[in-house]
Amino acid sequence: MYRLVCVHCAAEYAPEQILYTCERCGHLLTVSYALDDLAVTRDVWSERPLSVWRYRELLPVQGEPVTLREGGTPLYHLRSIGREIGVSELYAKHEGMNPSGSFKDRGMTVGVSMALELGMRSVACASTGNTSASLAAYAAKAGIPAVVLLPAGKVALGKVAQALMHGARVIAIRGNFDRALEMVHELCLSHGLYLLNSVNPFRLEGQKTIGFEAIDQLGGCVPDRFVLPVGNAGNISAVYKGLTELHTLGMIDRYPMMTGIQAAGARPVVDAIEQGLAELVPDPDPETVATAIRIGAPVNAEKALAAIRKTGGTAAAVTDEEILGMQRDLARKEGIGVEPASAASVAGVRALVERGVIDRDERIVCVVTGHLLKDPETVVKQCAPPVEIDADLRSLLSALRL
Ligand code: F0G
Repeated sequence: MYRLVCVHCAAEYAPEQILYTCERCGHLLTVSYALDDLAVTRDVWSERPLSVWRYRELLPVQGEPVTLREGGTPLYHLRSIGREIGVSELYAKHEGMNPSGSFKDRGMTVGVSMALELGMRSVACASTGNTSASLAAYAAKAGIPAVVLLPAGKVALGKVAQALMHGARVIAIRGNFDRALEMVHELCLSHGLYLLNSVNPFRLEGQKTIGFEAIDQLGGCVPDRFVLPVGNAGNISAVYKGLTELHTLGMIDRYPMMTGIQAAGARPVVDAIEQGLAELVPDPDPETVATAIRIGAPVNAEKALAAIRKTGGTAAAVTDEEILGMQRDLARKEGIGVEPASAASVAGVRALVERGVIDRDERIVCVVTGHLLKDPETVVKQCAPPVEIDADLRSLLSALRL
């Protein structure tokens, strides 16, 4: 059993209420389980396949979920990059290996399942791209219509292609993500669509399983640090919330330092951490090559700041050059293809080690959030084009200089 609880004033609401914010104070809601009554052990979980649904006792869905087999993503040991940086225990959880190519699928399997359980018959979101691709796929699986709002001209090609192909109604607004989120929120409240951005408490429940899986993949060991790229700050908040549940259940005895990485052109969370602000100051004009995290007013900031501060973590910004450099390093030195925002987490580790903030003997899990093919245009811009030759062996040998 669970209730919806306001993260700010602790007001409680019944789970079947369609609510995204507290009626008393306007802050976000979170799902709170009666953990004392929960009969679950690690042994029960370890008998199930590694996936979001391994942890179903800590998820709100009662019946059969709408699933495309999300989660169970690989945890790679970054030996080569780790050697260069001087961190031998550096890992990447490759969330690009989810069905639609990003971690959003973990949230959408839960969010769309809840939409159906709550009797909602249409879904919507604003998105920098991945949320829309994922929502479109899960709405298709569920057989319900989806509306997605995107910032015009600022969404990577692969993500738009997915949203269109899965049959969502795709609207590009002449404004940024933050404005798109305000608009879709209003639309959902006035027209009864179910909102599946990270203001939705159920969606984030699915995303917390990234942390559960990583700990299971490390043989039950809690890493010293989790490093995540931060946009709307939902994912870092979700992973931390999941860890608090494992802690209450006695399954872990300490917390990893939650560390958020933003792009230098979209860094309100980093500023709030560096300046010790209680509340974040929105950036009206965010800009970065990592369009997935091109967000100036992260709605989950309150939770993310608490997660970072309570665990002794930190936040740091990396430049677009550092992001793209790490995207290439991951591809060429580790064989791991990610989109720019995802490379920000590993680029952040490199920067924080160089600044002496991260110890070289830490065991670190970076979440790399989306697949390389999401943003082919940014890839092609960084690489020389294929060499075109006549179709004969002499031309081939000459092109290869053999
Ligand atoms: N990495 C990728 C690839 C993303 O798509 C996002 C967010 C993030 C990191 C940041 O996660 O928002 O929970 O802090 N993408 C959202 C979207 C905003 O619309 O697809 P966050």
